[in-house]
Amino acid sequence: ELDPARVARRLADGGGLVDVLTEVRAETGGLGAFRLDPAAPPTVLVTGPDAVQHVLARHPEGYVKRSHRARVLIGDGVLSATGEAWRRQRKLLQSQFTGPGMRRYEERITAAARVTAARWAEHARTGRVFDVGEEMRRFALDTIWRALTGHPLDAETERELATVAEVMTALPSLPAGTVAAHGAVAGGIARIDAVADRAVAVARDGGAGPDGPGLLRVLVEASATRPEYTDRLIRDELVTLLMAGHETTATTLTWLYLLLDRHPEAREQALAAGPEGSKERHRALQALLHETLRLYPSAWILPRHAVEDDVLDGHAIPAGTDLIVCPHLTHRDPGLWPDPERFDPTRFTTPGRRPAHPGAYLPFGIGPRACLGLQFALRESTTLLAHLLPGPAPRFHSLPDRTSYGITVRPDGPAPATLG
Ligand code: HEM
Repeated sequence: ELDPARVARRLADGGGLVDVLTEVRAETGGLGAFRLDPAAPPTVLVTGPDAVQHVLARHPEGYVKRSHRARVLIGDGVLSATGEAWRRQRKLLQSQFTGPGMRRYEERITAAARVTAARWAEHARTGRVFDVGEEMRRFALDTIWRALTGHPLDAETERELATVAEVMTALPSLPAGTVAAHGAVAGGIARIDAVADRAVAVARDGGAGPDGPGLLRVLVEASATRPEYTDRLIRDELVTLLMAGHETTATTLTWLYLLLDRHPEAREQALAAGPEGSKERHRALQALLHETLRLYPSAWILPRHAVEDDVLDGHAIPAGTDLIVCPHLTHRDPGLWPDPERFDPTRFTTPGRRPAHPGAYLPFGIGPRACLGLQFALRESTTLLAHLLPGPAPRFHSLPDRTSYGITVRPDGPAPATLG
């Protein structure tokens, strides 16, 4: 265990959880423990690939997700549900985000990418300053909204949903138990609820969007035979998917653009890999994305709670222990990733250059609770890049100078740019 006095010193120096975890890792090598609160039992940090795989994929029934603060927003949606309820919810949604279910979204994703590309063409023509992060957020929200409702995102819904981001930013800094009472958060939740209620009502009336029915309609239909799909649960799934499905993708695409600004050769190489629409180009775009997710895995910590006694890497883990799996540190382990701080997408295109261990690269998690939207996220991101990368690269006027490690790892501050 890292000496609690050192943890306290770190925090007093203005460090955050990420600094404490980095120090625990440096001090202990693999599995380490720490206490943010000296009176509480220690939390275990898990970064080694074997231990990561054990906790998330080999023995997931022994390490469960703990209800977290976002629950006031996402309720009993699939991200926070546990046990049998989770299993049923996951099964239904999984069929919508893989195979033929997923293919229904491809045209909607392309339509959203075209809207963004048209807006960028307009930015290039006018020379107007725009915020790259904001553009990525709009795109990611538009794609998930189309998937859920069958409608493109309208301006009013977009405005209302901007509060999702505000609520999410406010959550980690609030003490547990006070979240619902916090004015801005409560107000934000009420506005999101109003949007969700409207969308569920439209889906109930059978109103398919111009692109056919959305996922909401599937949930409404399920409610005819499955009593657990109350209006409340449908609302919770909607808000869960909006939340889990847009901020993560948006920040990843923003990081990617910030990285390309420092590594313009990576953009050239991706475009030179093959002609537009070719497999080679697609693979190169995916590699850009994977290398971005290696350095900035949006879900940078995955909290778990041990429900039974276990042994992890030879250490006893008593039931009741809190653990933090940390993809951020695993992805920057020089033993797994040589020269880990270097942005090098060829790690993902050259055979044998990335570690084969399933616990060594986990931006989408691994095991039964791994990301439900993995295919959706990869599809929307590569589709957008295929549309935008051949155009002019953004010239940033200033760069966010800090990285914020909250619920997700985000560039802290605006990223204003012009095109052309
Ligand atoms: C779960 C990452 C995009 C929906 C997860 C987890 C990770 C993750 C790491 C596992 C969390 C854990 O084990 O504690 C990402 C990243 C994304 C992304 C990096 C984009 C680059 C999406 C999208 C959707 C989505 C687009 C929806 C369409 C979900 C859901 C879960 C989840 C519903 C919970 C699954 C469950 O608990 O059964 N995501 N995600 N994600 N993700 Fe994603």
